[in-house]
Parts: sequence; C-alpha cells; structure tokens
Amino acid sequence: MKTSAIAHSNIALTKYWGRRDAKLMLPDNSSVSMTLDRFFSHTTVEFDPKLKSDLFVLNHKSISGGNERIEFERFMNRVRSMAHSSLFCRVESKNNFPTAAGLASSASGFAALALASSKAAGLDLSGKELSQLARFGSGSASRSVFGGFVEFNAGIKKDGSDSFARSFANEAFWPDFRMIVSIVSLERKKWNSRIGMDATRTSSPYYPAWNKTANADTKKIKRLIQKKDFSGVGKLAESNCLRMHASMMTSDPALFYWEPVTLEVIKSVIKWREEGLESYFTIDAGPQVKMLCLKKNERALVKRLNKIKGVQKTVTCKAGPAARIITEHLF
Ligand code: PMV
Repeated sequence: MKTSAIAHSNIALTKYWGRRDAKLMLPDNSSVSMTLDRFFSHTTVEFDPKLKSDLFVLNHKSISGGNERIEFERFMNRVRSMAHSSLFCRVESKNNFPTAAGLASSASGFAALALASSKAAGLDLSGKELSQLARFGSGSASRSVFGGFVEFNAGIKKDGSDSFARSFANEAFWPDFRMIVSIVSLERKKWNSRIGMDATRTSSPYYPAWNKTANADTKKIKRLIQKKDFSGVGKLAESNCLRMHASMMTSDPALFYWEPVTLEVIKSVIKWREEGLESYFTIDAGPQVKMLCLKKNERALVKRLNKIKGVQKTVTCKAGPAARIITEHLF
C-alpha cells in the first residue's frame, strides 16, 4: 500500500560523534537532541510487483548512483528482510530545507523513510523498533522518530539491542526554548558525518577525551533540561560542541566544517552574551550556527544576526513533534 510519512530534523545539544560498530551503526557515546518544528522530510513509499529495481527520487531528482543510492538500497534491503519481502519499491522524498548542509537532512530523511517504508511493507513497528531501524540509515535519524527532547542511548550490547532513542520531554514541555538556525552556506559538506566520525575515532589523539566527556555531558544535560535550567543547558551544549569540533580538527585529515562567517557568529554570540543578551551556540558537521535562546531574547538576536554579512537566512525553531503517517502522497 502507498504510504507517506513526515519526520522532523533534530539538532543535538550533546553530540553523537564516533561509532563503536560501523556495520550496526552503534554510537560510541549517548547524545541528546531537540526535534525541530520548522524542518522536515516528507516521504512516500510504494512496493510494486511490476518494478525490476528500486526507484528513488530525492528533492525531485532521480538518484541512480553514488553514495546516496548505496545507502538507500542498503536501507531498503533491511526493510525487505524484516518484512520477508522481495518486492522493489518506488520512493519519493523531499526536504523543506537544504540537504547535506549540516541541518540534519539525513536524520529527518531516514526517520521518514523508516516509518513510511515499514508501514508500506506491512510492518507495525513500535517506537523503539522504528528508532533502531532509522539508526541504520544514520545515527541521528534514530532521534528524529520522536518529538521534543530526545535521548539516544549508545548502549553497551554488541548486537545493538540497547541502542535506540526515546523522548524524555515532549514538544510542549519547554514552550520558551528556541533554536535560531543561521544559514551561512548552502554548499554540500565535503566530508559526510560518517566518514568524518570514523576518521576522528581512528586518528585524533583527543578522541578518547571527547568520548569520555560526551557521555558525562549527555547525563548532565538531560537533568538540566528537566529542570529547565536555560543557562546550564546553553553552557553545556556550547562546550560539548567545541570539544567535538576540537576532536574533528585534530583528525587526519583535519576536518574543518566551519566557514569564516561561522566563527564570526560564534564571537558575536559570546559578545552579545557579555552585554546581557543571553544565547549559546551549537554547530554540527557543517558551517551553520544554531543558537539557543529563550523567547524573550529571540527578536533582538534575530535582528543582530541578520546584520552579519554572510548570514543568508535565519529560521527560528521550537521543539517539534514526532514522526507521523500522513495521507498526502508525493506521487
Ligand atoms: O547521524 P549522522 O551520521 O548524520 O551524524 C550526526 C553527527 C552530528 O550531527 C555532528 C551530531 C549529532 O548528534 O547529530
């Protein structure tokens, strides 16, 4: 049956960077994220006995080769094996935001694909099972299955059965919490996150320190979110992000995801904070800066951000909802 789903992207407040098992996509450290209300992927899947191979259209472009195709086929083979099916499928997916530019398009994309394809294949997966399926597409996709504030538990079991995400505060929990996304470059990133995190894990002398603090940060940030301690959450998110980037920059090859304007926004955030306008930054495997603030400071911050040359666009997000089935199909 033709099935469509929507899943929102998420931005980590404590990052996942490093895999303990690349095949099973098991993270080396736990992470916490916020699902974003404004950025999402919409995906339609139909298994069809007439097809001789899978058809995959992403953002109106047919994907017939390259990395995206390989990852997509690997994912669909997993769904087929779970459903004991040999049928090929037609899949169309589109993002309402730039792909592969550090805005977690793989997170929302694979979460939407996990939900739509499992349902289309006749499976009725639990939240935990969906999160584990999405994880095979990309680690952060396991978090996009859920809304609000979400923890992705790295787990310790070899088979990955304890590695999945769950929401610990829903999207209505902290109505004043905001994330302002500044888009500073729309170029696709040079190193995708999986290549980058594997290089960091095997070559950066700072990786063990990153890994140790990342797990501790995740435990702490959960408690700070539960207490709605904005300054505590912001400070910890910022230092966690900087430690991840320090491990990236000290890898072989050295991974610089920032552009000059990224640093300009970072320095501005720190200066504005010293002047009393409180916000904190976080950055993923790309140049965009995401700023954390409370509703009362949102307007003033957006105004200042838009004055920085090189900031192309700002989008203010609140915590967004979980992935869901919708009736609107893309074909
Ligand atoms: O899920 P992946 O493979 O796209 O890796 C995510 C990596 C970061 O975005 C940098 C951090 C995170 O936890 O989302």
